[in-house]
Amino acid sequence: MKSSLFIYALCALCPAIFTRVAGAGWEFIQNGTSGVLALETIIVSPTLAVFFDFATTGDPLQINNHSAWGGLWNLETNEVTALNVVSDTFCASGGLLSNGTMVSVGGNLNFVGGTSPGIDGRMGLRIFEPCASPSGEGCTLYDDPDTVHLTENRWYPTTLRIFDGSLMVVGGIHEVTPFYNTDPVNNFEFFPAKDGTVPRPSAFLERSLPSNLFPRAFALPDGKVFMVANNQSIIYDIEANTETILPDIPNGVRVTNPFDGTATLLPLSPPLYIPEILVCGGTNASDQIPVANLSSQDPASDQCSRITLTAAGIKKGWEVEHMLEGRMMPEMILLPSGEVLIINGAQTGYAAIAGVHDAVGNSNADNPVLTPSLYNPSAPLGQRISNKGLPATEIPRMYHSTASLTPSGNILIAGSNPNLDVNTTVKFSTEYRVEYLNPPYMSLDRPTLTGVPSKIAFNSNFTAQVTIPDHVGSHPVIKVALMDLGFSSHSFHSSSRLVWLEATLSHDHKLLEISSPPNNRVYPPGPAYIFLTVGDTTSAGIHVMVGSGASPPVPDQGRRI
Ligand SMILES: *[C@@H]1O[C@H](CO)[C@@H](O)[C@H](O)[C@H]1NC(C)=O
Ligand SMILES: *[C@@H]1O[C@H](CO)[C@@H](O)[C@H](O)[C@H]1NC(C)=O
Ligand SMILES: *[C@@H]1O[C@H](CO)[C@@H](O)[C@H](O)[C@H]1NC(C)=O
Ligand SMILES: *[C@@H]1O[C@H](CO)[C@@H](O)[C@H](O)[C@H]1NC(C)=O
Ligand SMILES: *[C@@H]1O[C@H](CO)[C@@H](O)[C@H](O)[C@H]1NC(C)=O
Ligand SMILES: *[C@@H]1O[C@H](CO)[C@@H](O)[C@H](O)[C@H]1NC(C)=O
Ligand SMILES: *[C@@H]1O[C@H](CO)[C@@H](O)[C@H](O)[C@H]1NC(C)=O
Ligand SMILES: *[C@@H]1O[C@H](CO)[C@@H](O)[C@H](O)[C@H]1NC(C)=O
Repeated sequence: MKSSLFIYALCALCPAIFTRVAGAGWEFIQNGTSGVLALETIIVSPTLAVFFDFATTGDPLQINNHSAWGGLWNLETNEVTALNVVSDTFCASGGLLSNGTMVSVGGNLNFVGGTSPGIDGRMGLRIFEPCASPSGEGCTLYDDPDTVHLTENRWYPTTLRIFDGSLMVVGGIHEVTPFYNTDPVNNFEFFPAKDGTVPRPSAFLERSLPSNLFPRAFALPDGKVFMVANNQSIIYDIEANTETILPDIPNGVRVTNPFDGTATLLPLSPPLYIPEILVCGGTNASDQIPVANLSSQDPASDQCSRITLTAAGIKKGWEVEHMLEGRMMPEMILLPSGEVLIINGAQTGYAAIAGVHDAVGNSNADNPVLTPSLYNPSAPLGQRISNKGLPATEIPRMYHSTASLTPSGNILIAGSNPNLDVNTTVKFSTEYRVEYLNPPYMSLDRPTLTGVPSKIAFNSNFTAQVTIPDHVGSHPVIKVALMDLGFSSHSFHSSSRLVWLEATLSHDHKLLEISSPPNNRVYPPGPAYIFLTVGDTTSAGIHVMVGSGASPPVPDQGRRI
């Protein structure tokens, strides 16, 4: 959809006159250390992120006289405090429910030499209730697998919030295996449970073996779920329990662990919210080659594949374009501008640890990509990807690294550890340094949005106060993004979402009338941040609860589209 949909300024057809103000441009800034390895990251409040690690014996952050493996990262002070995680969160996933509670899902048996205090986390359902304290004081994690747990053991599962505000849990593996999914959990389950806790078998997961860990799955605006695993894709109808097969990713490219590419649902635009999926990176290697026959120097795929999920779009199939370099283990972050940041990963090799015959240190991947790119979904094919003006970091972010948009509008980046334990002596050692990628607007005078209600019903209008900096000119182009910041684990940002909201600016540029999403399928009910972009500057995000805030499952709400 074209940006003209969001132009509600006084003079939509006038050429926008921008008085550009010199700022710092894009920049990486290191600040603080994560204390635990941030191999999973989720923003849980306007000021806090949660990091999860494996139940290690070596992290510097301590709790109860042992190394912690969970931390609350304070985005204001850039300091971490330990979370009391009880079960092993290694290679888990998670998400937010319709009532704002964060749930960490699945995990590991805890294999670190038997000396770690962690207990079996494979059925983990760890609950972090909404935290009102800006510093996180008094906010704790409930982690008792004897009381609250999944139906199956799941290491490497995907978790996403669906239309009724529950979490859907997809696939995984039962046991620790070195590379391919050789002990698969070929089914789906939900939290809170559906179907009397009986998991639903999936032919898709069966078919996409053995490189189908962390399937990339998305809640579509009609309530169905799109999934891609290995080189295959489907639409799953939760209500009918049916799978519809879509075309394979072209050219033999495989995109899920241990062949990690990544995927995102592109921004959804009114009035039709037509979903488009973008899948980038991974490899075209065969998934029948034993890991010891693969090389850390095998080139990663530079392919991005995009599909429109309408009957005509599916018939047309995947449209192929190319990144500026191959990327194994990239992550894609939706930005409030509607662009997609492609960040992290390696130009060669594979995910996982110490499997290939020529591991670098213990890393199956080599040649880290240090410069991010931007993908502009509305540019013509072949002109969408650029790294112009983007800086290079000095920190490789490969296996077990994470990235997330923050409520203030910059990108938090942490982790990277292609090692079996904490290893500080090897090439590609355990990485605790936290860094931010600041978009240019972070150092400019920014628009502000105030008076946004804390709870927003579907299909309703509300008015917010705005201030617009002088430097954007007198005919500002306004875009209002409603965003789920997602859960980052293993090069995938599950539940990440951007829904454009229709908005009308008052003649005096002081008030913005905003329309909420039409229903709970366009935006699964739960927490969100609203960002206002004016010209090329973006406000900080305002935290809102979309829907009633009730515990899942919640009934359908709003108007059908
Ligand atoms: C931690 O160790 C110290 C010194 O050995 C001891 O006094 C303290 O009680 C321990 N704390 C916990 C929570 O186990
Ligand atoms: C790091 O963050 C702290 C807390 O926000 C801030 O005071 C400090 O200036 C930051 N340092 C750098 C180098 O940005
Ligand atoms: C997808 O992978 C399967 C199994 O390796 C293969 O048979 C099929 O040809 C691939 N599809 C494409 C489009 O390359
Ligand atoms: C893997 O490498 C071994 C040793 O070089 C070789 O004997 C074997 O044929 C290779 N297997 C495959 C499937 O490439
Ligand atoms: C596989 O990918 C590599 C790296 O992008 C490329 O050089 C090669 O041509 C691809 N092979 C096929 C058969 O597409
Ligand atoms: C770090 O990895 C290297 C390479 O595998 C290994 O030789 C070394 O023992 C490891 N160190 C620790 C502390 O595990
Ligand atoms: C919200 O505002 C839009 C645009 O002014 C209008 O078309 C729509 O009817 C309003 N919706 C409600 C529920 O008031
Ligand atoms: C949200 O719902 C979950 C699942 O029912 C429940 O465990 C949690 O306590 C609820 N939190 C709040 C704040 O209602």
